[in-house]
Amino acid sequence: MSQGIVTVAYIGAIILFILALGGLSTQETSRRGNLYGMSGMALALLATLIGVVSDNYFILFIGVLIGGSIGLLLAKKVEMTQMPELVAILHSLVGMAAVLVGFANFMDHTIVLTGVEKTIHDVETYLGILIGALTFSGSVVAFLKLSARISGKPLTLPFRHWFNLTLLLLAIWLCFRFVDLSAAGGGMLPLIAMTIISLVFGVHMVMAIGGADMPVVVSMLNSYSGWAAAATGFMLSNDLLIVVGALVGSSGAILSYIMCRAMNRNFISVIAGGFGTSGGEITEGSEGEAGEVVAIEAVEAAELLLEAKEVMIIPGYGMAVAQAQHVVNDITRKLRDKKINVRFGIHPVAGRMPGHMNVLLAEAKVPYDIVFELDEVNDDFPKVDVSIVIGANDIVNPAAQEVPDSPIAGMPVLECWKGKTTIVLKRSMATGYAGVANPLFYKENTKMLFGDARESLGAVFKHLE
Ligand code: TAP
Repeated sequence: MSQGIVTVAYIGAIILFILALGGLSTQETSRRGNLYGMSGMALALLATLIGVVSDNYFILFIGVLIGGSIGLLLAKKVEMTQMPELVAILHSLVGMAAVLVGFANFMDHTIVLTGVEKTIHDVETYLGILIGALTFSGSVVAFLKLSARISGKPLTLPFRHWFNLTLLLLAIWLCFRFVDLSAAGGGMLPLIAMTIISLVFGVHMVMAIGGADMPVVVSMLNSYSGWAAAATGFMLSNDLLIVVGALVGSSGAILSYIMCRAMNRNFISVIAGGFGTSGGEITEGSEGEAGEVVAIEAVEAAELLLEAKEVMIIPGYGMAVAQAQHVVNDITRKLRDKKINVRFGIHPVAGRMPGHMNVLLAEAKVPYDIVFELDEVNDDFPKVDVSIVIGANDIVNPAAQEVPDSPIAGMPVLECWKGKTTIVLKRSMATGYAGVANPLFYKENTKMLFGDARESLGAVFKHLE
């Protein structure tokens, strides 16, 4: 295949990727967006396999076979609740690829460059490995945190900012050493030293961020994986990788910014870690001071819903765990048949990944036009008769507004307690992801319906009938 055809195929793939990003920005077009993305990737792979690769087909075939099989198996096996972990571990692979390509590139003696060109190439290699290594180790820690294999709490070392600064200065100094030594035919040692520093930095950076700030980490690592891919593109002089990496990198960065705004967080403070980790917890044993918990049965919940005119459904991570979205849709249809106005209030960080709740609700075929974002419904709660909180906790926690030193202080929350009645569905009095107890459960107008959300809602649905 001629270089011209490869270039045309690459431009086609880039256009498809841009269309994919556009498509993924709304629920109605997201399916189409995914299709564009898949077609773009198929085209890019095909053009690379036929037009760019000229040797080592056997090794390539084995690699594709192993990677493809693992991908297929994972995709078939993974539960919706495990998606964020899967995304995190996939980011780590992009990081690792950048590191491996960087070292392979550095050791490739067929690339003969001199003068400024060599310096530029060396800096590209250095940056590619640096970003790749910290993406790799950071993503592995994010995976461990999200899958609860290690504690989600932020690790705040006493001199962590100085530690980070020292690592950064060391990495800059090593870059100069590397460029100098590489010009003289060496440079492996500073490259390895920098890789170790980046790996340590990645681990430390993500370890220091915890609790409710994890969504920012997920999108930030998404962005890093994009820049790592772009750096790989520079190393390999592959325009497609550069453009696609930049698209992923910048969209991840925009998402991190949106997440920070949604959480009312300062991006730099989140990245520096240990943000809002002091005090503010209401321990589980403090019911006496906090108030009384009123538990109800499904039949009472059904009665409350039937008496209501305005119902707000607030889904959270527990809906994903319980896979309750289908019965939620059944209940929604039933209530709407009875001329009750049902709306959904979606918090930007509900669940464990951006858009988590929207994906589940779309899967269950909940109409898009009754699903609203936090800003669109938060002022309406005084007019709501019944809010039903399905496996959500942090996103409806009034402590964010009422307890100034709470770890989630300042985070916008869905103010369901301002409505007439709130029904909270969860299995116990346990805290949510941020580990902060929730005063909502003790409010006078809150009723708790304990149990698995799908089972509880199934029972409510029966009583509605
Ligand atoms: P959480 O605050 O984590 O609360 C979920 C609640 O669901 C838990 O309190 C749990 O209580 C309940 N639950 C679990 N399984 C259940 C089941 N089968 N049936 C009924 N209830 C069940 O979730 P949220 O309110 O959605 O808030 C999201 C949190 O995750 C935020 O802190 C956010 O920062 C963080 N986070 C979000 C993301 C993104 S991007 N969305 C990424 C990482 C972290 P029981 O155990 O008592 O049932």
